[in-house]
Amino acid sequence: MTADPPAGQDRRLTRHADVRAVLADPRFLVPAAPAAQPVAVRPGTGMAWLRGAVSRFSNGAEHTRRRARAVGLLDALDPARLRREAYDRTRAELAGQARVEVMTRIARRVPVGVLATRLGVPEEWREEVVAAVTAMAAAYHLPLAADASPTGDAADAAVGVLGAALGVALGEGEAPEPGLLAAVAGVLIQACDATAGLVGNALAAVTRMPADPALRWPVEVLLAETLRWDPPVRLTRRVAAEDAMAGTVPVPAGAVLVLDLAAAKRDPEVFPDPHRFDPSRFDPARFRQGRGGGGGHLGFGDGLRPCPGERAALALAAGIVEAALGHRLADPEIPYEPSPNLRVPARLCLQDPERLQAPTNCRTRESAEGPR
Ligand code: HEM
Repeated sequence: MTADPPAGQDRRLTRHADVRAVLADPRFLVPAAPAAQPVAVRPGTGMAWLRGAVSRFSNGAEHTRRRARAVGLLDALDPARLRREAYDRTRAELAGQARVEVMTRIARRVPVGVLATRLGVPEEWREEVVAAVTAMAAAYHLPLAADASPTGDAADAAVGVLGAALGVALGEGEAPEPGLLAAVAGVLIQACDATAGLVGNALAAVTRMPADPALRWPVEVLLAETLRWDPPVRLTRRVAAEDAMAGTVPVPAGAVLVLDLAAAKRDPEVFPDPHRFDPSRFDPARFRQGRGGGGGHLGFGDGLRPCPGERAALALAAGIVEAALGHRLADPEIPYEPSPNLRVPARLCLQDPERLQAPTNCRTRESAEGPR
């Protein structure tokens, strides 16, 4: 489904079949990095360099080479270990607390921290690198002009923090070669907000379900249905390199397409009764064996350049959600971060039903409320 847009606006595709067709068609490219204007950049420093060096904003042979490097890093990870570490760290955050604010305490800190240490960041740099990755992720998709803002400065400095942390792991006085820094940064940044959204949206959905254990679904299908029903990544873009068909729709060269992943996941031609949260759509046996392949939910993209972090993201999110099962939402009103393409809760407070008599403030900060 698409409409001719008013002048200056992008075309939006919402049909599942059209979105899949475009994602599989090599005539549709990823738009250039926001920092594509000529700027003086020193390799290995700052966001303008980083955006120009990651796989996410590149095409063709350059994309193939950079993506292979990211895939190499991710393939070396053991999903069972990621899941166990995410579970243990989440349990430690929740232990003894009546209420915990998940988005500040867990949703980024746990997955990014676990991934960073598995990718070579020394344990003592973990928290600093989590903060650095969070700053880089916030600036990743912003236009270059935003680099003049304090956010841009903080993100530029954050690239240096990650470089320094990886340098410590390499040895005295070493700096990671720029290609390695770009690959590790690209992986951690992609993991940061999207996984936080998956964790937050899954917990929001799960904690609203009836508490009856008979209705308890395997965490794998809860995540699959969250990715369909309330996906953290709502849209992505492609630009037509030549005149082409977007599914059944002709698109002129140069036109930018907005692929509305969230709408496609509620396409009634593919998902009957699409607005209902219903984990039974997904077969637990397939997902338990790691053969889910997304079940058509498009949560991790599709076609020529799907998310290479799917296995890691699902392992980390499964560990976190599993550790929080049994907790309830302390406040049903969930505010969301302002974002054109992501849906990530800004605040999500969980409470332990067995500690309802305890003080009711939501644990958000270390200093005021005791050790981790
Ligand atoms: C451990 C966590 C994750 C890692 C390491 C990761 C890594 C990546 C990387 C490196 C890319 C760029 C691929 C390329 O340029 O070819 C990517 C793309 C993508 N990721 Fe992830 N990701 C993670 C979590 C997630 C999550 C939780 C979601 C959504 C629920 C997600 C959705 C996507 C999508 C939709 C794309 C493709 C965008 C497009 O086609 O334009 N990722 N991811």
